[in-house]
Amino acid sequence: MNPGLAVLQARLGSRFSTDPEHLRTWGCDWTRAFAPQPAAVVWPADTSEVADILALCSHHHLAVVPSGGRTGLAAAAVATNGEIVLSLDRLQHLGPVDLAGRTVTVGAGVANQALQDHLRPFGLWWPVDLASKGSAQIGGNLATNAGGLRVLRYGHARHWLLGVQAVTMAGEVLELGGPLVKDNSGYALAQLLAGSEGTLAVITQATLALAPLPGPTQTLLLACPSLAAVVETLTWLRGRPIVIDAFEVFSEFCLQHVARHTGQRRPLPTTAPWYALVEFEDPQSLEIDTILTGLLEGGAVSDGAVAVDRQHSARLWQWRERITESLQAFTPHKNDIAVPVAALPAFGADLLAWLDQQPHPHPLPVAVFGHVGDGNLHINTLRPAEWTTERFALACKSLDDDLFALVAAHRGSISAEHGIGLVKKPWLHLTRGPAELAVMRATKRAWDPQGLLNPGKIFDL
Ligand code: MLT
Ligand code: ZN
Repeated sequence: MNPGLAVLQARLGSRFSTDPEHLRTWGCDWTRAFAPQPAAVVWPADTSEVADILALCSHHHLAVVPSGGRTGLAAAAVATNGEIVLSLDRLQHLGPVDLAGRTVTVGAGVANQALQDHLRPFGLWWPVDLASKGSAQIGGNLATNAGGLRVLRYGHARHWLLGVQAVTMAGEVLELGGPLVKDNSGYALAQLLAGSEGTLAVITQATLALAPLPGPTQTLLLACPSLAAVVETLTWLRGRPIVIDAFEVFSEFCLQHVARHTGQRRPLPTTAPWYALVEFEDPQSLEIDTILTGLLEGGAVSDGAVAVDRQHSARLWQWRERITESLQAFTPHKNDIAVPVAALPAFGADLLAWLDQQPHPHPLPVAVFGHVGDGNLHINTLRPAEWTTERFALACKSLDDDLFALVAAHRGSISAEHGIGLVKKPWLHLTRGPAELAVMRATKRAWDPQGLLNPGKIFDL
């Protein structure tokens, strides 16, 4: 046994565990493709304890996997190889809200929802709006550069980050940025940590930029005959004097799954291959019915519903927000690709043609949904009940080979929001060139020369 483990145990007492149940729970995220096998879990109380632990692990050559709310979908927080899982759960500090600068400084372990609750009395929010906000933590939101349902209007977590306190694997505490709104003095290292999936340093605290809470909004559910029509609808709406907060898409197949899962009545009297869920700020100069009429007359929309009140809007949102849980029983293989928005119609046509060609008699059921306003589609392949996990994994790997080649051909990304982690690592070279990957590896070595922090995630060294 590595002697470092006994030192950690002696130092942390009950905040060190090798209990198999703890190893299983804290050693993985929402992905289930890799078996968690950490050596121990530790729960540091503050930044200086994080620094002590990392220095000690470096000294004893123990690898470390940082762990937040464990809601990730790329296995970036899975410990498969005897690592120490470093949980940020106890870093719960919620700082005072700076109303003049519209900033707040919080601990990495604060849940996204707890932060929003802290900000609401001031009429502010941190506009990273995730379905998993009850569990997902701010440190993890930043480390994965989380997006969510309102990226179209607000951008990713990185856009709302002013500074971080972060600890390197050597145990050095870095203060990168802070409440300064403008700072052009050298590299933006805090922003580099956003999306680094815990491979460069452990974020322990963040200073976040805040936005005013959105005013009243309008919600529309639109039925569209094709993905091209969905993009046409987005283009048409972008030409109107409205501020679009969200523009989401899902297929009829997804709608049927949510209907079965929730027991909700279908939202429209007609059916269509695709549905767009649109939310925009209540337009003062334009009647909502005028917008819907314009859309129906244009032909890209075959049917539509306007939310009449907040409850109705919430019900319409359920059709999009509850897709993930409605697919869960089918152990979906998840993808979160993106292509430029303008390339979506061509990509969509290629995608559907490719799906049609899949071998029969077992064409794998595929659920397509996502954030069409960002060019980001979730392509979830469902496991037929009679298929073994191994057979399904093999089939998905071969499907991914084709899918990611198609994505690369449309100048897209193999991961728009979930990250690379372990899950997408084999395909990163398709959309990131050799020179770019060499710079990434050199960056990793500069921050973590021994390669002990979240090893094997994003790429191998
Ligand atoms: C979503 O957009 O619903 C999330 O990214 C989760 C998922 O991909 O299932
Ligand atoms: Zn998503």
